Amino acid sequence: MESNKKQTAMVKFYNREDLPLELHKVRVVQKLFLKPIEERLQAIEEAGYNTFLLSTKDTFLDMLTDSGCNAMSDRQTAAMMLADDAYAGSQSYERLEKRVKALFAKEYILPVHQGRAAENIISQTFVSEGDQIPMNYHFTTTKAHIEINGGTLHEIYTDEALKIKSDHPFKGNIDIQKLERVIAEYGVENIPFIRLEASTNLIGGQPFSMENMRQVKAVADRHGIMIVLDASLIGENAYFIKQRESGYENSTMGQILLEMADIADIVYFSARKLSSSRGGIICTGSEELYDKMRDLVPLFEGFLTYGGMSVREIEAMAVGLEETLDDQMINQSPSFIDYFVRRVDALGIPVVTPGGALGAHIDAMGFLPHVPQEDYPAGALAGALFLISGIRGMERGTISSVRDAEGKDVLADVELLRLAFPRRVFTLSQLEYTIDRLKWLFDNRDLVGGLVWRDEPKVLRFFLGRLDAKGDWPIRLMEKFRKDFGDSL
Ligand code: F0G
Repeated sequence: MESNKKQTAMVKFYNREDLPLELHKVRVVQKLFLKPIEERLQAIEEAGYNTFLLSTKDTFLDMLTDSGCNAMSDRQTAAMMLADDAYAGSQSYERLEKRVKALFAKEYILPVHQGRAAENIISQTFVSEGDQIPMNYHFTTTKAHIEINGGTLHEIYTDEALKIKSDHPFKGNIDIQKLERVIAEYGVENIPFIRLEASTNLIGGQPFSMENMRQVKAVADRHGIMIVLDASLIGENAYFIKQRESGYENSTMGQILLEMADIADIVYFSARKLSSSRGGIICTGSEELYDKMRDLVPLFEGFLTYGGMSVREIEAMAVGLEETLDDQMINQSPSFIDYFVRRVDALGIPVVTPGGALGAHIDAMGFLPHVPQEDYPAGALAGALFLISGIRGMERGTISSVRDAEGKDVLADVELLRLAFPRRVFTLSQLEYTIDRLKWLFDNRDLVGGLVWRDEPKVLRFFLGRLDAKGDWPIRLMEKFRKDFGDSL
């Protein structure tokens, strides 16, 4: 049985609605710049309305991603000083290996330089021309690696997954009937694995339940198909299971993580999200699967005891993984997101509910109903928000999609502006500023128009592509901002 309890901070206030309370103190700070709107206009024009191409010199709150941007702990930075520099046989790597084994109870471990490198190795090893890969939802780099090896993705999410407004606690679940249908239609021999993504990124950081995972496992076992778990956001998924799934209230994070890992044949993750600033891991309990993948690590990543990571990053990762067991650490991002989402929702701004992992996701089609999907509303919203606030979010819609064989845009299922909340990075007043500017933009949304390509790369176009505003809407938006805010930044 699943239940959707409101996610609360661990400390209740006496005289306030639930607020997320920071259970850490800030000891290293970085100065931020909030530039005048004219300079922000110039910056976003030069970046081609692509927030990936902005400099942090022009950015006030960097909500592009949590990837590599979560704040490190004092213990992590201290561990970096103890790193053992060695090409082969580094003790730092031995410490990491021990930590991964303890966390996931998988005997065989391969280090890689980041998550997509794990995807490269898994896809090269197991995906061949004509293969079909069922999954709850794709991630951009996963899709690219599977397709480049000749595979086809099947996203078999439940009806709830793409609903913007929902109170379903586990929108990342797989639809078991659809899974059975894909297997029946394409045949077991063409399905090398089922991929499960913890805290499903592109649908709004939405988790799956343990119950669903177990159901997927039962189907997979019946057909002899292996399960690959993308564990990049597994800490948050485990935290949501503890918060939202009956029967897990009293489980420790460690127990939940072990139970999840046990269901998967291969677990991989981007350490940029899970634990630290760089790196990744593939692990498995099967010597046979390990042997199939192993030789690609020295070829693409580096020797087996560093896999493209520096020893300092390896030390930070080992400690970061240990801290994943601490729900007070993991809680810091979901509790801020939950607070933000409830506030924004109460203001009538369309936002994905319930709040999930890694960020809040604004529904750009609901926000800008007058901008057709062909004119990239999520990209336009990201550009407009940066212009009026210096806040950098990320487009997660059709710009992040691809073109089909005829060159037509494949319109995304959802057009989202993601505002990432890296762990322990932002303060509550910075969140209040974000809510305030978002509300102003919502009240002035009629002024925002669409975008059109200036320069469109063929692969992963959202990273490096540039677009232009259709018409002079950014100028008009800036003028309205000046009228309402005067000389305020
Ligand atoms: N899988 C998931 C679920 C991810 O969120 C990411 C990265 C990757 C794999 C790839 O890992 O970046 O280390 O190569 N997500 C980042 C984001 C980029 O901003 O959401 P990577």
